[in-house]
Amino acid sequence: MDKEYPLTIENGWDIMYRDYPEKYDEFASLGWRHREENQLYNMFDFRGKQVVDVGSGSGKSTFNLAPHAEYIIGVEPEKSMRDLAIKKAEEMGIVNVRFIEGTAQDIPLPDDSSDYVTAITTVMMPPEEAIPRFAAEAERVARPGGTIIYKGVTPGWYGGELDHVIQDQWAIENDPISDAAWRMAGFRVEDYQILQDYGTLDKIISVYGFIFGMNAIEYLREHKKTTITWSYRWYIKRV
Ligand SMILES: C[S@@+](CC[C@H](N)C(=O)[O-])C[C@H]1O[C@@H](n2cnc3c(N)ncnc32)[C@H](O)[C@@H]1O
Repeated sequence: MDKEYPLTIENGWDIMYRDYPEKYDEFASLGWRHREENQLYNMFDFRGKQVVDVGSGSGKSTFNLAPHAEYIIGVEPEKSMRDLAIKKAEEMGIVNVRFIEGTAQDIPLPDDSSDYVTAITTVMMPPEEAIPRFAAEAERVARPGGTIIYKGVTPGWYGGELDHVIQDQWAIENDPISDAAWRMAGFRVEDYQILQDYGTLDKIISVYGFIFGMNAIEYLREHKKTTITWSYRWYIKRV
């Protein structure tokens, strides 16, 4: 029998990572209209490089880079997400990736063992503790001359353009704290916007609405909205 899904988990991301990893994977895979210049593999040269992708989740960020890099190790604490990533790598025949248990604050890899450390929308909570800890761990794991890259949501863009509808209290309070912590740790920033096209109202409600809650669902229904504009922020540091 197919798994039963509630209409929404009302911003309970940890619940989704643990209980609905396929739903996260659908969200991460669906309808993103990236401009090519904002793709990580076009911003940096990964050819022949070792990458550690922290918070690799269901593997989306790792698989995006896999054709462009020598080898990628995904580090992910949530077992259901890791298991899905391992299964997907097997199904897709991607052999230059491996997924291990670990966190951004405690990366279980040796010093100077990687050219890049990436963390793509990885959970950093609480930000004022997690971000400096991750920065120190990533600097330890990256070789001299290496690069650390974090992708987060631009403050004020939680859930993309519907930030004002969702009004997530955690994001309102913590996004500015996160942004300040990255800058304090010596990261430079760059913003970019992209469109996510879900195609139908049913699909956007069952994926985006499932994550972002009733206010978002009511707004989508009322405005018959099937696309979301997002703004992301790259945080980048050379070691
Ligand atoms: C939004 S997902 C991003 C997944 C993947 N990077 C992608 O692009 O699809 C955030 C991930 O961060 C993971 N996470 C939560 N706490 C973490 C921590 N302390 N260190 C590393 N990852 C963590 C979650 O389990 C989840 O898989």
